[in-house]
Amino acid sequence: MLIKKGILLGSWLLLATGAAFAASSGPELEKAGNDVENIASLQRGARNFMNYCSGCHSAKYVRYTTIAKDLELSEDQVVANLMFNADKTFETIKVNMPEDDARRWFGQAPPDLSLMARSKGTDYIYNFLRGFYLDADSPTGVDNLYLGGTSMPHVLWELQGFREAEFAVEQDTGEDGETVAVTHFESFKPVIAGSMSAENFDAFVRDTVNFLEYISEPIRSTRRVLGTWVLMFLIFFYIIASMLKKQIWKDVS
Ligand code: HEC
Repeated sequence: MLIKKGILLGSWLLLATGAAFAASSGPELEKAGNDVENIASLQRGARNFMNYCSGCHSAKYVRYTTIAKDLELSEDQVVANLMFNADKTFETIKVNMPEDDARRWFGQAPPDLSLMARSKGTDYIYNFLRGFYLDADSPTGVDNLYLGGTSMPHVLWELQGFREAEFAVEQDTGEDGETVAVTHFESFKPVIAGSMSAENFDAFVRDTVNFLEYISEPIRSTRRVLGTWVLMFLIFFYIIASMLKKQIWKDVS
């Protein structure tokens, strides 16, 4: 009964998330193309996260000791390169900014990023981080193609530079048959160059997103290894069992 309820709840959740994805419009998402098995990329992603994101965002479900182990870093390397907001390696990634201040500055507190890759998807975050464009009407000076009116500033502007977005206005027929103007995103136009080329910036964001996917399920690689052991045990057990069966039945048949 309990299991049935679980399945039912699961399918409701699936339906609900499906609907949420269908409802969010906007330009198509480019694939992030990250690989959580790539340790070097995760190490770069961890560095990017600590340098550019952890000032505002926490990742309160992940401990530095776990990161050290999974990313094949020594504790000394973690202390020297990643730990700006903590004293002890078993602490989680916290944020220094008091929530009240954050709310006053941004209108809302920057969300914890531990589970963001699972709730929004890696492709979305990859596009979101590359989707800022200049907007004189916005308090932060920028808007985002994938999260219109966002209060997150373009924190990677030094690397990417600033761009303008060009929109085409088209006439469309509205629900009541009247004509309405619909804007479609056309392209980005670079205005101020950043320190990175477009390819390098994409790679930088890919590594960062990779790290976010990793922290959203740090146990994954352990589980995969465990799965292999379980399979090996089953095969081994099957061989023993069939040998045993032969032995037992040999006098009967
Ligand atoms: C200066 C503070 C600040 C920094 C630094 C910052 N963010 Fe944010 N971020 C915010 C705020 C504020 C929001 C809430 C935006 C909103 O909902 O409009 C946000 C929201 C987000 C979201 C959620 C978007 C959504 O669709 O709800 C993601 C993902 C994100 N940030 C990723 C990052 C990453 C990755 C970095 C580092 C490269 C970073 N942020 C650096 C302030 C910051």
